[in-house]
Amino acid sequence: MPPPAQKIGVCQGKHCRKRGSANLLALIEQVAPSSVFVKRAGCMDECPMGPNVRFYVKKEDEDGARIVNGVSFKDPKDLAALLEQRCNDPEEIPVNLLALGE
Ligand code: FES
Repeated sequence: MPPPAQKIGVCQGKHCRKRGSANLLALIEQVAPSSVFVKRAGCMDECPMGPNVRFYVKKEDEDGARIVNGVSFKDPKDLAALLEQRCNDPEEIPVNLLALGE
């Protein structure tokens, strides 16, 4: 299991945007725990596998930020499951999901 993310970058490069990364960013901002900073990110050079999301971990745990390819925003529950695996304070995520009506 990778260390929990402190920050999440959602690629907003043109290839990922064509695959809906703007909607993905909006959804991650709503579902992610408040302790995790969510930001727009530039191209991660893995365009054919997008939309791509980078999970930044604490410096002392870091052996490179981890990129997850092909993150779907179509089912918020799938996204919530990914965030629960990767983020600090995962207990906040189901509450955020409920607030979305899921
Ligand atoms: S546009 Fe997203 S990885 Fe290149």
